[in-house]
Amino acid sequence: MSVHASPDHTAAQPRLSKPSRIAIVTGGSRGIGRQAVRRLAADGYALVVGYSGSPDQASAAVNGAITGGSRAIAVQADIANEHAVEALFDAAEAEFGGIDVVVHAAGRTELAPIAELDLSVLDDLHRTNIRGTFVVAQQAARRVRRGGSILTFSTSVVGLAFPAYGAYAASKGAVEALTLILARELRGRDVTVNAVAPGPTAAAAGQHPSLMGGPVTIEDIDHWQTGGCPVVSTRAFGTVAAGTSFPYLVGSVGDGLVDTAEGSVQLL
Ligand SMILES: NC(=O)c1ccc[n+]([C@@H]2O[C@H](COP(=O)([O-])OP(=O)(O)OC[C@H]3O[C@@H](n4cnc5c(N)ncnc54)[C@H](OP(=O)(O)O)[C@@H]3O)[C@@H](O)[C@H]2O)c1
Repeated sequence: MSVHASPDHTAAQPRLSKPSRIAIVTGGSRGIGRQAVRRLAADGYALVVGYSGSPDQASAAVNGAITGGSRAIAVQADIANEHAVEALFDAAEAEFGGIDVVVHAAGRTELAPIAELDLSVLDDLHRTNIRGTFVVAQQAARRVRRGGSILTFSTSVVGLAFPAYGAYAASKGAVEALTLILARELRGRDVTVNAVAPGPTAAAAGQHPSLMGGPVTIEDIDHWQTGGCPVVSTRAFGTVAAGTSFPYLVGSVGDGLVDTAEGSVQLL
């Protein structure tokens, strides 16, 4: 398994002075993580874009952030590989001087009825979604500075319990449990810890998520999966470790509100 500790500098960095706030986004190469990179860059964060198998997409995310005036690097790391993740966090500290926010968006989905799912697929999925979240959470817990935030991703399907989502929903149930316990373990550290549970979200470039009022139904998902208008909704889940406000949630804590702006997922 390869471990890439060296950051990829895909474009000239705009400033040499140390930025004040630094964020790591795992899964920053694509999807929701990519949108988180965009939003955090717009807010002036220096970014470390974690990726696995999409170097070109990661470079595009970095270049987008740099074009907007932020500093950013891409670092390849399989999130389930503790050595690679340690190197990812090392790279953030070496390049920018610290870590304030970790958005852990990297994850996988595999769908099949429980009776039919190949157990090797289950093992791979849980390695990424459960072990990977644990590994990232360990590093984040050790290194995020006071006033910082850690965000993990669950799924609305933990509550909706759609057929064929058994392995995936089970992995995200583990993410929720882990996140709540991490929040309690970090009490007093002034670090917020939250999991959010989006509904179906089409956040890839060129797609235009729209806000769907109310809970997602099977018909909505059929519509979405067959190429209809992508929907964004959420059953957000969260807990705040230390009472400080946390502005970077995809959706609100409670039922059903996700804002969108300019065709992208809006982080509230
Ligand atoms: N989209 C939805 O409808 C939805 C709904 C509920 C929850 N979620 C959750 O939200 C998060 C983001 O979902 P998404 O749909 O935006 O994902 P996505 O578009 O499928 O992108 C997945 C991201 O995870 C990275 N990744 C996958 N395996 C990895 C590994 N082993 N190590 C490091 N990075 C890895 C990918 O990197 P590379 O491309 O570089 O390999 C990619 O950046 C996930 O946790 C997902 O379960 C998504």
